[in-house]
Amino acid sequence: MAQNRETFGSHFAVIMAMAGSAIGLGNIWRFPTLVGQYGGAAFVLLYLVFSFLLALPIFYCEAIIGRRSRANAFGAFRKLDPKGHWHWLGLITVVAPLLILSYYNVVGGWSAQYLFKSLAGDFVGREEALVTGYFGQFISSAWAPLLVHAIFAGAVALIVVSGVKSGIEKFTKWTMPMLFVLILVIVVYSVCLPGAGAGVSYLVRPDLSKLSGSAVASAMGQAFFSLSLGMGTILTYSSYMKRQDNIAGTGFSTALADMLFALLAAFAVMPAVFAGGLEPGSGPGLIFESLPLIFNRMGAGLPLVSTVVAILFFFSVLMAALTSAISLLEVGVAYMSEETRLSRKQSTWLLSGLVWLLGIVWSLSFGPLADVQVFGMSLFDAIDYTCSNILMPIGGLVFVLFVGWKMPAPDVYDEYTNGGTLRFNSRIYPAFRFLVRYIAPVGIALVALTPYLF
Ligand code: TRP
Repeated sequence: MAQNRETFGSHFAVIMAMAGSAIGLGNIWRFPTLVGQYGGAAFVLLYLVFSFLLALPIFYCEAIIGRRSRANAFGAFRKLDPKGHWHWLGLITVVAPLLILSYYNVVGGWSAQYLFKSLAGDFVGREEALVTGYFGQFISSAWAPLLVHAIFAGAVALIVVSGVKSGIEKFTKWTMPMLFVLILVIVVYSVCLPGAGAGVSYLVRPDLSKLSGSAVASAMGQAFFSLSLGMGTILTYSSYMKRQDNIAGTGFSTALADMLFALLAAFAVMPAVFAGGLEPGSGPGLIFESLPLIFNRMGAGLPLVSTVVAILFFFSVLMAALTSAISLLEVGVAYMSEETRLSRKQSTWLLSGLVWLLGIVWSLSFGPLADVQVFGMSLFDAIDYTCSNILMPIGGLVFVLFVGWKMPAPDVYDEYTNGGTLRFNSRIYPAFRFLVRYIAPVGIALVALTPYLF
């Protein structure tokens, strides 16, 4: 067991690290892709409802377990319930984030590639078919994606190996405020494009007929994915919180920042999709096809502005991806360095290497392995589906059931209200308790099962 466990330096640092974890490819890449596939505004509405009603309670539960125990996702359960078997369930939430990281790294690599391309001025003054066609050509080639995948995975490991304070905290504290400024610039650019109005109305006018059972489950999956829930990430970061930090406040700010960023990203991407005359449901390539097309088109008149906006956009995607990927890796690293004899450094490089190797499979599933199908999905879609729609709800259930039904109620109250000193938190505590014990477990189970029931 680590003796001198690190903590984050300030409350600001806690929020930036949490927001850094939450805001990522889930917001900029996954959210617009799903919104396009599942029918626009109706999906957005469901996502918002699930975020408050089901996701936020899980956030609180993970934070309560993490800060109470000051341990990793496996050790936490052993500390809080030494005689029980919950830590084996905790182990799922140590392995699952590494699975997510293995495909997250692949998309992180794509964003690095697109940053390099925009730095080279490749999205300006080209033929349109070449610009949109590049994505398909790039991901289906064998070697190019593997190279950037390795670069991205290496960068993630380098930040994590530097530690909680001098790696994670330092990196997220500077990156997150900058990201908000950048995305605002891009939203303004995007909604001003000719033809962007159709994209805006797509995002604000719900069409309920498009909602299927799997749309409902995926909206919850997205709410969990976006807030980094059910996988021990929030638990692990919270274990680095100080006693005086406010769990309820941190969770609420993180969720708000995350939702706001998802909406901003949707307003950056969808208007560009419509202005470019592309299909909103075109899948994982959505942002990598629509935005370069728009940059290229605008570049005909304003080459410099367009190049700069392209660079800013893909730089933002890359930074957002990095701040999230480090939180995924930290779960495993905290576990391994605290529960085995390996040092933080050894754990980081070992896990990163394994995760990178596994990622090669997902990367190749767009090229040489494209014909391999699991339940009608590509390997990449299958692993994403398994993690978000199956493992995350299970992880979420473990956390809410543990806090709602297993942990002694006075301990839960103590963490949520800092020993009763936070008056606002004490006042809303009964509502929180009710959500955690009844609404969240039933809601999560029901929504996760919708695709199989309806
Ligand atoms: N929330 C991040 C995003 O939106 C991804 C992420 C980081 C994540 N940690 C997680 C997803 C833990 C699920 C669980 O991109």
